[in-house]
This record gives sequence, C-alpha cells and structure tokens, in this order.
Amino acid sequence: MVKKNTCVFISGKGSNLKNLIKRSRDYNFPINVKFVISDNINAYGLKYAKQNSIPFLIINTKKRNYENKIINKLNKYHISLVCLAGYMKIISKKFLIKFRKKIINIHPSLLPKFKGLNTYSRVLKFKEKKTGCTVHYVNEKLDSGNVIIKKTFFINLHDDEISLKKRTQSLEYFAFPEAIIKIYSNN
Ligand code: GRF
Repeated sequence: MVKKNTCVFISGKGSNLKNLIKRSRDYNFPINVKFVISDNINAYGLKYAKQNSIPFLIINTKKRNYENKIINKLNKYHISLVCLAGYMKIISKKFLIKFRKKIINIHPSLLPKFKGLNTYSRVLKFKEKKTGCTVHYVNEKLDSGNVIIKKTFFINLHDDEISLKKRTQSLEYFAFPEAIIKIYSNN
C-alpha cells in the first residue's frame, strides 16, 4: 500500500498528532505523518515530532511570507493531505485554493452546532443532551466544510467542562483516523 504523505498542523498539546503518528505505524493505515507545522514555538506537541524524527516547521503567522514557506515545505515533502489538529489560526484563501479538498479539521462539537471557540462551556450553557466531535473538510468559512465523520456521546448531569473535554477528546482519537480511512476508501 502506498501511504499518502501527510502534514499535521498544531498549536498546542498535540494529542491528536501523537495519535495519528501512532496509527500511521499500522501497515494498513492510509497515511504517514511526514511533516508537522506549528504556529507556536512552545507547542507541547512538537515533542512528538522530535521523538519520532519527523521534520517540523515553526511559523510566524505575523510575517508576510509565512504561507510561501508552508507551501514550499508541503511541496518538498510531497504532502497530499493536511490535518488540522488543534491549529488555532485561520487558513488563508491562498492556501485553501492550493490544497482544496485536501485539508481536514477536527472540531470538538457536533457541527454545525457550536462552531468556533469555547465549545464546551457553550454546550453546557445550552443544556445540550449530547455532544461529540466532527471531522470535516476545510473551506473558506469557519468550521463549515463538508462533514466526513461525527461521533456522539450523551452528556451526564455531573459533566463539567473538564469531563466534556476528556470525553470528547477520547472520541477524537477514533474519529480522526476513521475519517482518514473513509477518505481513502472512497478513492
Ligand atoms: C482538539 O480537541 C480539537 O478538537 C480542537 O483542538 C483540540 C486539540 O487538541 N480543534 P490536541 O492539541 O490534539 O491535544
């Protein structure tokens, strides 16, 4: 099986990156994490790139040419899939055009509900009965591209933001790999 070269974008903890690297070791998993990009020099998740000898780039999104730097690296490593895993910056139009239909994101709610930030507190505030996570294609609008996969769980009376985050993220570790398998089983 020829695995697709993949780049994961992070900003922080990188637990989804860690999980994707782990899954990539499976012979049958359709991707290999070949490159990591972080917009945060202190992102904890960079540790996983280093531990696994995966090359990475730290970008400064305030600099004018930062997108060209990204595009050059993605070309250099023949990247055909970009996974946004807790990447906190908006993806520009220029980049979207170049990688259309090849960028996916994981969001900690059942989209189209609760796009954007602070999802857990809003889920609780609106007294939702269930929540979960969504993997979707990235387009020009925030958290709005076509959905690839959603995973759901029921909220308990005693759930708070901390437990919701924990429960959501434990589903994310299944959702992201399953979404990737789904993408490549259709191709
Ligand atoms: C995830 O919960 C994801 O849904 C959201 O950001 C979080 C990133 O977590 N977009 P991590 O950096 O992968 O641990």
